[in-house]
Amino acid sequence: MSDNAGVTKSLLLATSMAVVGSTFQFGYNTGVINAPQKTIEQFFNLTYITRYGYPIATSTLNLLWGFTVAVTAVGGMIGSLCAGFAADRYGLKKPMLYNNFTAILAALLMGFSKLAGSFEMLIIGRFIIGINSGINMGIAPMYLTEIAPVKYRGVFGTLGQLGVVTSMLLSQVLGLRWLLGTSTLWPLLLALTGVFAVYQLAVIPFCPESPRFLLVKMNKEDEAREALQWLRGSHYNSKEEMNQMSSEHEAGKDEQKTTIKELFTVSHLRQPLIIAIVMQLSQQLSGINAVFYYSTQLFLAAGIPQEGLTTVGVGIVNVIMTIVSLSLIEHAGRRILHLIGLGGMCVCSILLVVLLNLQRTVVISWLTLVPILLFVAFFQTGPGSIPWFITAELFNQSARPAAVSIAGLVNWLGNFTIGLAYPSINAEIGGYTFIIFAVLLAIFWIFTYFRVPETKGKNINEITALFQPDRVQYDAF
Ligand code: GLC
Repeated sequence: MSDNAGVTKSLLLATSMAVVGSTFQFGYNTGVINAPQKTIEQFFNLTYITRYGYPIATSTLNLLWGFTVAVTAVGGMIGSLCAGFAADRYGLKKPMLYNNFTAILAALLMGFSKLAGSFEMLIIGRFIIGINSGINMGIAPMYLTEIAPVKYRGVFGTLGQLGVVTSMLLSQVLGLRWLLGTSTLWPLLLALTGVFAVYQLAVIPFCPESPRFLLVKMNKEDEAREALQWLRGSHYNSKEEMNQMSSEHEAGKDEQKTTIKELFTVSHLRQPLIIAIVMQLSQQLSGINAVFYYSTQLFLAAGIPQEGLTTVGVGIVNVIMTIVSLSLIEHAGRRILHLIGLGGMCVCSILLVVLLNLQRTVVISWLTLVPILLFVAFFQTGPGSIPWFITAELFNQSARPAAVSIAGLVNWLGNFTIGLAYPSINAEIGGYTFIIFAVLLAIFWIFTYFRVPETKGKNINEITALFQPDRVQYDAF
């Protein structure tokens, strides 16, 4: 369907606006806090001494640091709930546009926290950038999948994740000790997140609202056609794509807006919702952020020297594999890539546990790097990108915003749980921690195998039809 739709310069501009302006915020702020931990902790301590005349207790410092890291996920949960509400009411463009002001506010708070001698400003800044990321990761994948031609929808969805991993790598590199990870420059490192907001503010006035939102939700046919024509080029015959959206509009005309309660109670909505939720859980409870948040600890436990550079190495694998996944997603499909990813991660977790429990020798230490790098590589094959955009594929316009909010909330909850729980579990069972992830990964693999349908190349009407009650194979939920 709409096979003559190609990739135009306008489409690329709109894509860069959503990727750099939105998904970069999430990736940058996920990665940025790892490297300068010690320098920022010193700042916490000095502030404490200036205020109270004595240094901060180690336990208070640990708590404060944990809070500084985790508070972003709390903001993320709030942001993802706002994303659905905002998308339903205002579309995708306006929330993206205004969300930049939260990023700029957060950048200013974090950037001036040292000058003001206030770690509270840094924590509030991290919380606000969390809200910003929650909104961004709800809206941007929706925008990317809605502006993409059907045959490239997976590629555009994966571009969102490419934005996340590229900016994560950027923050890891900039955070190195000989770049911005110093005691004087770390505020600048954190404040740089404002640059992405400025880019989006500069480009977004040229980009259209999602044509799908304009037609299916707002019934603005002319504006929708204009937006589609801008994205696809003036020679594009938009008739077929417009017809397909019109039929979705017709089908949903008498439907009320889907409420969150209905998503849980109506069978043909509950089925895709369970899939969206489990996909998000499979991403976060795979243990990926145990690697990204605590790579330094992991490498030290494995006896690998130069943890700073090794972390950058992991970041590079992350980017390369996302590019590989980008090229496979429309050929292999979502389901198979997700299965390969989860299966590979499960095997790597087991290997990692075995290696971590062997006697440390130089060879064993370096060998341990192999399952860690492969773990990340398999993650990016599918579990890294697919959960972020599959929710937008599984629901029609009336249910999509509410579903995206719930899926986002679950993602951030998983993120928060691992961020908070991993250090204590690791302190208790050390090298065996990844066994827990291996078991969870096996469960998610089985679920994906039996429950997740292929969405590649199908339009929204075809996908939602999979969950209608007469389709026996998905009735078992
Ligand atoms: C995904 C996850 C995020 C993780 C990142 C790693 O975007 O949502 O939590 O840190 O991948 O590449």
